Amino acid sequence: MVQAQRFHGRVALITGGGAGFGRSTALRLAAEGAKIAVADIIPERATAVGEEIEARGGIALDIGCDVSNGEQCRRMVEEVVGAVVHVSSIGGMRGSTHGLPFQTAKGGLINLTRHMAIAHAKDHIRVNCICPGVVNTPLTEKWLSSSDDLYREVCAWHPMNRIGRPEEIAATVAFLLSDEASFITGAILAIDGGYLAAGRGNP
Ligand SMILES: NC(=O)c1ccc[n+]([C@@H]2O[C@H](COP(=O)([O-])OP(=O)(O)OC[C@H]3O[C@@H](n4cnc5c(N)ncnc54)[C@H](O)[C@@H]3O)[C@@H](O)[C@H]2O)c1
Repeated sequence: MVQAQRFHGRVALITGGGAGFGRSTALRLAAEGAKIAVADIIPERATAVGEEIEARGGIALDIGCDVSNGEQCRRMVEEVVGAVVHVSSIGGMRGSTHGLPFQTAKGGLINLTRHMAIAHAKDHIRVNCICPGVVNTPLTEKWLSSSDDLYREVCAWHPMNRIGRPEEIAATVAFLLSDEASFITGAILAIDGGYLAAGRGNP
C-alpha cells in the first residue's frame, strides 16, 4: 500500500509505459499523486494502462510514440523539467560472450546519463540510471517459463536467489524522481539482488 503523495501536482512521462517496468512505474507514480503521460509504441497498451490508472482514481494521458523516432520524441517532450531516469541493465555494466548490441546500447546509456547529468545540472534537471537484474515482465516471461531448471538457474545468478518484481523497479524509479533524491544526479544504480556484487561468470 502506497501512502506517500510525493508527486502531487506533478506530471510524469513514461516511455514504454504500456507494459513491464513502465506500467509498474506509471501505476506507482499515479498512486503517489502524479498525472501520468503513458507513451508506448503499441498505442493500445498505453490506452489500457491509462484506463487502469483512471480506474484507480488517477489522471492519465495515453500517447502512441516510438522512442527510436526523434521527431515523435521531440513532439512528445517539448520541455523537460525536474528529473529523468534511464533504464539500462546489469548487461550495461559488464561484458559477455553474447548480447553485444544489447550490452553496447545499455552501456552507452550509462555514459549518456553521466553526460546529461553534467550538462543539465545548471538547469536543475537531475538525470540518473537504473540497472536492473532479471525481473519478471512480459519481456522475460516466455524465456523464464520455458523450463523449471532455467528458472532456478536464473534465480541463482542473483545472490538473493530470486528474480526481481516490477514493483521493486518502480519503487526505485519513484525514489530517484522524488525530492528525496534531490542531490542525486549522474548515479548508476543496480537493482539486482546482488548480481553485480557477486561478479558472476558468463550467464
Ligand atoms: N525485464 C528485465 O529483466 C530487464 C532487466 C534489465 C533491463 N531491462 C530493460 O528495461 C526496459 C523495460 O523492460 P521490460 O521488461 O519492462 O519490457 P516489456 O517488453 O515488458 O515492456 C516494454 C514496453 O515498451 C514498449 N516499447 C518497446 N519499444 C518501444 C519504442 N521504440 N517506443 C516506445 N515504446 C516501446 C513495448 O510496447 C512495451 O509495452 C527495457 O529497456 C529492458 O531492456 C529489463
